[in-house]
Amino acid sequence: MELNIIRLDHHGRGIAFIDGKIVFVDNALPGEKVKVEVFRETSKYKEARVVEYITLSEKRTKSKCPFYEECGGCQLRHISYDDTIEFKKNKVLEILKKYADLEPKPEIIKNKNREYYRNKIELQIKDGSIGFYKKRSHELVEIDRCLNAEEAINSFLLNANLLHINNGNMTIKTNYNGELIVVINSDEEPEIEIEALREKHKLVGIILNGKVLFGSNHFIEIIDDMFFKESFDSFFQINRYINSELFRLIKENINSDETVLDLCSGVGTLSIIASQKAKKVYGIEIVENAVRDSLINARMNKRENISFMLGDAFTGIKKIKDKIDTIILDPPRNGLSKDGIINVLDSEASKIIYISCDPVTLSRDLNVLKRKYDIEKFYILDMFSYTYHVECVCILKRR
Ligand SMILES: C[S@@+](CC[C@H](N)C(=O)[O-])C[C@H]1O[C@@H](n2cnc3c(N)ncnc32)[C@H](O)[C@@H]1O
Repeated sequence: MELNIIRLDHHGRGIAFIDGKIVFVDNALPGEKVKVEVFRETSKYKEARVVEYITLSEKRTKSKCPFYEECGGCQLRHISYDDTIEFKKNKVLEILKKYADLEPKPEIIKNKNREYYRNKIELQIKDGSIGFYKKRSHELVEIDRCLNAEEAINSFLLNANLLHINNGNMTIKTNYNGELIVVINSDEEPEIEIEALREKHKLVGIILNGKVLFGSNHFIEIIDDMFFKESFDSFFQINRYINSELFRLIKENINSDETVLDLCSGVGTLSIIASQKAKKVYGIEIVENAVRDSLINARMNKRENISFMLGDAFTGIKKIKDKIDTIILDPPRNGLSKDGIINVLDSEASKIIYISCDPVTLSRDLNVLKRKYDIEKFYILDMFSYTYHVECVCILKRR
């Protein structure tokens, strides 16, 4: 059947209609006429793939990635980089309007490294082949390099056969120095050629099923001359350049006389950055190992004006006796809990810096925070280039 694509949805899919029912079409752009086959239908929508392009959009570009058509890792490699930015800006503004009736004027921070920007990738291993899952399936697309991943990861992939693993999954992390930590989950007992891998790569550690098989369970990341211990299982932003831009925004928006509360502080990165400007910083984080790392990170960077606490950040707010001037909120994708948002509202902080990787949960939370706060600045950061994902930073001022 033939369809005319009208616009893009928030996942970068083309939208068309058949008999009034919405159809989501992978790899189809507004203005294109396409012949499709429907592969999924529910009572509300259909999902389809293109079998033939009848007319092409002038915005269509050829993907540089040979695996793009099949691989589920990126969704926007068939348009130019600037068009991906336009897509992300429109997406964020539409979501903010729809869920929070807000219309900020965002400042866009583009990625400096459009390719090879990810310091971590997660891969599947099936019958000895390594790759990503095909879009919406558990079928493997074998890859020998990923345009998003940093060079050290790509170089390792070329020798990944030396791991001798047939089935499982693998996360590869790298740092400023191209060092590598390889985290494997598998039911097998592989005879990994560790020495051969060490000769070719700066291999720091191999973790098998949560246990150190070789080397160390962490490495040191350096960003803007600051040192961060990063354990194999701790959260760390995946894009070094955009992380540094995030640090810049934190510093620009904190003053020297402020007491800052960093909720969801992870391994302490933003607390440490904030402490360079603020009088005092408190960080609260729920993962024990991350709190341990944050204490070490504070010491490594000679920061003495920070206290880290283990626990739920959103109930933990009430335990801080000092008057808080600024709250940094950097929650996981699902945003704040219901109690958490009320506790933040009750905190009387004059400023909130909300960092979010999901504009839907950000909008939901802003819809509550707007009872007492106005948006002063709004930034869109291209942390995840050529995917539909987007990072936002919102600076809120109390009325
Ligand atoms: C998006 S990460 C941000 C970490 C840190 N700000 C950074 O930039 O590296 C979110 C962090 O929130 C933590 N977390 C999740 N739920 C939490 C909760 N209820 N209380 C405290 N921390 C939580 C996670 O363990 C994770 O470290």
